[in-house]
Amino acid sequence: VWMFILSWSLTLLFLLITPIVTIIVRRASSRFRRSSEKIQNSMAGITHATKEAAQGQRVIKAYNGFAEEELAFEAVNQSNRRQSMRKVAVAAVSVPLLLLIAGTGVSGIIYLALSDTIVAFVTPGTFVSYIGTILLLMSPIKRLARVNEYVQAGIAAATTVFQLLDEKPEQRVRAGSSQSVPIDGHIEFRDVVFRYSSGEDCALAGVSFEVRPGQTVALVGDSGSGKSTAASLLLGFYRGFEGQILIDGRPIDDYSLQALRAQISWVSQEPILFDGSIKQNVTYGQYDQSSGELEKILQEIEVDKLISDDDKSVGELGNRLSGGQRQRVAIARALLRKGSILVMDEATSALDLLSEERVREAIIRRAQHQSVLLIAHRLGFIAHADMIHVFSGGKIIESG
Ligand SMILES: Nc1ncnc2c1ncn2[C@@H]1O[C@H](COP(=O)(O)OP(=O)(O)O)[C@@H](O)[C@H]1O
Ligand SMILES: [Mg+2]
Repeated sequence: VWMFILSWSLTLLFLLITPIVTIIVRRASSRFRRSSEKIQNSMAGITHATKEAAQGQRVIKAYNGFAEEELAFEAVNQSNRRQSMRKVAVAAVSVPLLLLIAGTGVSGIIYLALSDTIVAFVTPGTFVSYIGTILLLMSPIKRLARVNEYVQAGIAAATTVFQLLDEKPEQRVRAGSSQSVPIDGHIEFRDVVFRYSSGEDCALAGVSFEVRPGQTVALVGDSGSGKSTAASLLLGFYRGFEGQILIDGRPIDDYSLQALRAQISWVSQEPILFDGSIKQNVTYGQYDQSSGELEKILQEIEVDKLISDDDKSVGELGNRLSGGQRQRVAIARALLRKGSILVMDEATSALDLLSEERVREAIIRRAQHQSVLLIAHRLGFIAHADMIHVFSGGKIIESG
């Protein structure tokens, strides 16, 4: 405003320059943001490569994959360096460019001021005051351009976080779902077709089978044939399948996820344990403490022998236990829950035959009250099943 009072013509010129500056700042901004995004991505690549190398170190060592890991790390590192250099280049060009334009503007103003027409209107005093004001404005503009760089990098970084925050939560209690609870555990898959969002082929291409209450049904087949996918759909981990999955004659969407999962005891293909004692891991989630089942189950599948020192932690992801021990803890956890449905996804793959037989007996003992879905490789484990379905390429190719 002071500038307007001093001289409107000079100010008009100044206003003319401002949009140009703005446009350049904008341009540079979007550049910054884009390259910052790419830098974030390549940083994520580095983190990923590092983490994978750390977690998979045994496999890397066992398979002598050092050279490959080094190459992979080199690649993500190079990409990060390229992106960082590009950003520096943009910064190196845009800041001086802004200063150049601002400088040109100031020169223009001085020139105009000196030319006769203007001199007629502008007194030297006004002029000096005016230049002073503009020069005062220069350094904030300069700083603005610098700050912008950081702001844009921040925005780019935040985008990923916001994407994650915007991810819709699972609807644990679905609108329209009644209070109903699956009780009998009658499972029915009808022509279920499912495709993972990241996969092009159908993981399930029209699968139909049934597990009646109290029945034990086994799914066998090559790895990648869709067995685990069927289990995941039953547990409501994925939505958007075609066909129908019914429990007690009602589509699973009718149940709230909470009620549904409360009735399903599930042992995942990879036994997942949490850092804590074995007992904490076995009693994870809700279960009926009064039943006295805990000790029985621990004994039955010989988890009790593992609990010699009670409070010892199993380590991150249970890495202080052997694969077979982890699986037994995971199985004990599932057996302890009183769901009407038991789903075991290759849950005994790391057990010796003797322990497997114990687990099998423990399951059979409870099977009268449960519908059991066994996914297995070894036929011995599923010998008692009422029905066996053979999966291949997302389809059931044989049943009997
Ligand atoms: N989370 C996932 N995202 C994309 N594709 C998947 C995912 N899980 C499994 N698949 C694909 O779905 C198919 C079936 O996998 P899965 O059900 O795990 O087989 P199985 O348990 O019989 O070994 C495979 O081709 C696999 O690559
Ligand atoms: Mg599987």
